[in-house]
Amino acid sequence: MSSNRPEPAKPLWSSRMGFILVATGSAVGLGNIWKFPYITGVHGGGAFVLVYLICIAAIGVPLLMAEVLIGKHSRTNPIVAYGELATAQGKSRHWNWVGWTGVTAALLVLSFYVVIAGWTLHYFGLSLANGFAGADRAAVAQAFSDLTSDPLLMGLYSSIFLGLALWIQSRGVRTGVERTARLLMPMLVVILLLLVVYNAMTSGLGDTATFMFAMDFSELTAEAVLIALGHAFFTLGLAAGAMLIFGSYLPANARIPGAALWVAGLDTGIALLAGFALFPVVFAAGLDGGQGPGLLFQTLPLAFGQLPAGAWLGAAFFLMLALAAFTSAVSMSEGGIAFVSSRFGCSRKKATLSLGVGVWLLSLGTVVSFNIGADWQFLPGRNFFQSLDHIVTNYMLPLAGLGLAIFAAWLLPGRTSAQVLNFRQGGLRFQLWLWLTRLIAPLTIVLVFLHALEIL
Ligand code: PHE
Repeated sequence: MSSNRPEPAKPLWSSRMGFILVATGSAVGLGNIWKFPYITGVHGGGAFVLVYLICIAAIGVPLLMAEVLIGKHSRTNPIVAYGELATAQGKSRHWNWVGWTGVTAALLVLSFYVVIAGWTLHYFGLSLANGFAGADRAAVAQAFSDLTSDPLLMGLYSSIFLGLALWIQSRGVRTGVERTARLLMPMLVVILLLLVVYNAMTSGLGDTATFMFAMDFSELTAEAVLIALGHAFFTLGLAAGAMLIFGSYLPANARIPGAALWVAGLDTGIALLAGFALFPVVFAAGLDGGQGPGLLFQTLPLAFGQLPAGAWLGAAFFLMLALAAFTSAVSMSEGGIAFVSSRFGCSRKKATLSLGVGVWLLSLGTVVSFNIGADWQFLPGRNFFQSLDHIVTNYMLPLAGLGLAIFAAWLLPGRTSAQVLNFRQGGLRFQLWLWLTRLIAPLTIVLVFLHALEIL
């Protein structure tokens, strides 16, 4: 089907492949390699993984297509996009709340993301200095608590990470991010595969396969379903405005559905691979898979410490992780920066700096959540970092996702969406997309919310 929508003012990506790489760079990050294994560990494995996979396939993929579609169709930043498209349909401009929620959520995510990403810099240095050679459980646990109990050191790393991300951002993500993603993504996969092969040859993958795929629904709580859904949004970077703004830079003839499938497939594949890189080490060392955020940092160094070239492999791994986090971090502020610079007519640099100061201040809250502020509660039973992560990942992103689904599938005319998605309106694929986005996604999000809020 030919497309007569305008080219973007400045076409960004060199090709659809460029878009796939940048979108995958945004999607693949700490969420896949650090967070997915640890929440799977906390929520008991198999049944949680299944719910997560269903959320990705039935909600993540259709909404990813929907978000890119809105970007490509509107050719503008997330906050303006919803308002403009809504008024064009004779609906309220206030639909821009969807953009606001997503863009705000992305900046909040960035504030704690840079802290965890800062850890990877520290671990890169430690590995390079061969700091884990022959280390045992106690030594590895000690190294982790030495870092997290030191707010100054952690603050320094997160500030460096944020500073670098914002610096690249202020120069424009165009060539920088696309090129970095092109180089790094394949390297990340190779290192993960190496770790999996090492695990297969040493401790074996059987226990991990059982843990990740054996279904035990007795451990599956409503909270776990909410977290699986929230993580599906988080890991795809959905509804945060990033996919929308990247979509707005797509060449007019680029097909969205195939690209979305690639991004979601790579993202899920890398998360599962991360599970097989981590859990065998956890189980072989007799560690607890449910230990939470420290999981990756307290287990992999054990494996690296035993390997012949462990220092190098470890350094390479943590560097990859830092870079994967970097391509995600950079994508989180793109929607906000594009909005601020166009709304206030200021330069990209000024927009980046002003948002950056706010994000940096918030990041300090996460830094102290691991040490002096560990017991300062914001939500009941949760410190600052846990509260922020909970609100943003489990409520704000799914809420923006709900708005996105309703907007794309009910408000935009079917003819328009079909055309932008390069689908035949009466065809099966379009109908499948439409009904997943119209009914399944909103209903699931609402049900999970009601359940989590103990209304249902
Ligand atoms: N998808 C990223 C990850 O899994 C996180 C992210 C969230 C990126 C929101 C962009 C927007 O690490």
